[in-house]
Amino acid sequence: MEIESQLVDTATASIQSEAGNGNQFHIKDVSVERSLLVGDTVVFNVGERFCATQAKCPHKQGPLNEGGFDGSIVTCPWHGSQFDVCSGAVLRGPAVEPLKAYKVVVEGETGHVETV
Ligand code: FES
Repeated sequence: MEIESQLVDTATASIQSEAGNGNQFHIKDVSVERSLLVGDTVVFNVGERFCATQAKCPHKQGPLNEGGFDGSIVTCPWHGSQFDVCSGAVLRGPAVEPLKAYKVVVEGETGHVETV
């Protein structure tokens, strides 16, 4: 009985680990003022730190990883909405909803987007 319980726990841990890896990236893959699609998020290197947001624009789901990025501002490639990538705030429409912004934790050469 105890062995069965351990097997289930191991399987659960494996699934959680795989989900976590989906939000990880190598920091060398995101140079200053560049962005990287990481799972359902986009990681932005704003110079002194990394910020992350949802990958799709809240206006009509434009791909923010393909937008222009300058300083801490991303511009949606579809209709030009602009957002602060660290707070998620809308700086220019037509979007009205802010982006979901996520914390990024860096350990050594690896970054992790905390989506929960
Ligand atoms: S989809 Fe981003 S501004 Fe319209």
